[in-house]
Amino acid sequence: MDVISVIRAKRDRQPLTDEQIDWTIDAYTRGEIADEQMSALAMAILLNGMSRAEVARWTAAMIASGERMDFSSLSRPTTDKHSTGGVGDKITLPLAPLVAACGAAVPQLSGRGLGHTGGTLDKLESIPGWRASLSNPEMLGVLDEVGAVVCAAGDGLAPADRKLYALRDVTGTVESIPLIASSIMSKKIAEGTGSLVLDVKVGSGAFMKDLPSARELASTMVELGTDHGVRTVALLTDMSVPLGLTAGNALEVRESVEVLAGGGPADVVELTLALAREMLAGAGLEDVDPAEALADGRAMDHWRRMIRAQGGDPDAPLPEARERQQVTAPADGVLSRLDAYAVGVAAWRLGAGRARKEDAVQAGAGVEWHARPGEAVREGQPLLTLHTDTPERFEYALGALDGAVEVDPSAEAREASTSVVLERVSP
Ligand code: URA
Repeated sequence: MDVISVIRAKRDRQPLTDEQIDWTIDAYTRGEIADEQMSALAMAILLNGMSRAEVARWTAAMIASGERMDFSSLSRPTTDKHSTGGVGDKITLPLAPLVAACGAAVPQLSGRGLGHTGGTLDKLESIPGWRASLSNPEMLGVLDEVGAVVCAAGDGLAPADRKLYALRDVTGTVESIPLIASSIMSKKIAEGTGSLVLDVKVGSGAFMKDLPSARELASTMVELGTDHGVRTVALLTDMSVPLGLTAGNALEVRESVEVLAGGGPADVVELTLALAREMLAGAGLEDVDPAEALADGRAMDHWRRMIRAQGGDPDAPLPEARERQQVTAPADGVLSRLDAYAVGVAAWRLGAGRARKEDAVQAGAGVEWHARPGEAVREGQPLLTLHTDTPERFEYALGALDGAVEVDPSAEAREASTSVVLERVSP
């Protein structure tokens, strides 16, 4: 087998054989295929696609490149959620302890943020003392004791994807449905969860900008999960407007704690409960009502235990950025546009995200918005507050927001927009 014939086959729109796929993933993981050759293949896949059979084999080969976790020793059913990434998407933070409070076990192996979407681990690391890296026995211990653990995925899980994702990130080959689906599902299947709920974001702040491509990604992933014995469903959710009222690490922890305390923005509460219901159904606990566990403090209790179990202090004050700057409404009217992608890029430029894997993030940096599209605003009223430790970043962040926030003086205020959940995809 040689890699040049594999690249040529995909370049010429021929389907890859099972042997070609198995060999390619194995040889790339072992370092026998060079990064420039794998980039050429990834670009050919991005341009020419893969059939469902090729995606299934590619995913199976990536799973086989590493270890598989085993949660069979736990007394509770396992269930997990994966989001394809959005702006202000802090849902894992209230969701994991909420579902644990309802009786399931949630093993959330998460990643760090790269680009304009934040990473769950970066958010939790803004809590003083909290530790993302756990050994496998430590992780099982927290899961057994608390029912939820959010930690960094170990190096042993789908190492082929770890290498390939880093390469795609710097070669313009992230936005390919077969590559995204196989990347996400190889990690989730190797993680060993019994059921999985996918939150596939749609809109300017997401990988998938329109419903047809989001549907295709969702159905590809649901099929992959189902074929591997993981009960999998997907919700397509709106990411044209950012979620909640904050984007940035400590800012999002604060908002998540508000949700756990029974408050918080309506869209964050709605999506948390919708995903919790799906996760509980996947775990065979469809009769448990997550709204009750949120209202009576059990979810908050599990959050506090989960943070403490990983060295964090849930009562410690969260870091705040040293500098703030406001953007005010230019006129009386209605906020007609708040673009998710632009808000994500602004938060990233303020220091909440990183440009390279090894960069540090600022815990307090980010963007807060004080109105949502459809709300009436008055001239001079603060629309956004930008937070950073490094004020020289304000101008750069404001550049990202140019044209992304609009007030329409002649529009009528309307009720909070419709549900964030747009569609459900099941096997
Ligand atoms: N998240 C992943 O894990 N992989 C992708 O390819 C895209 C998003």
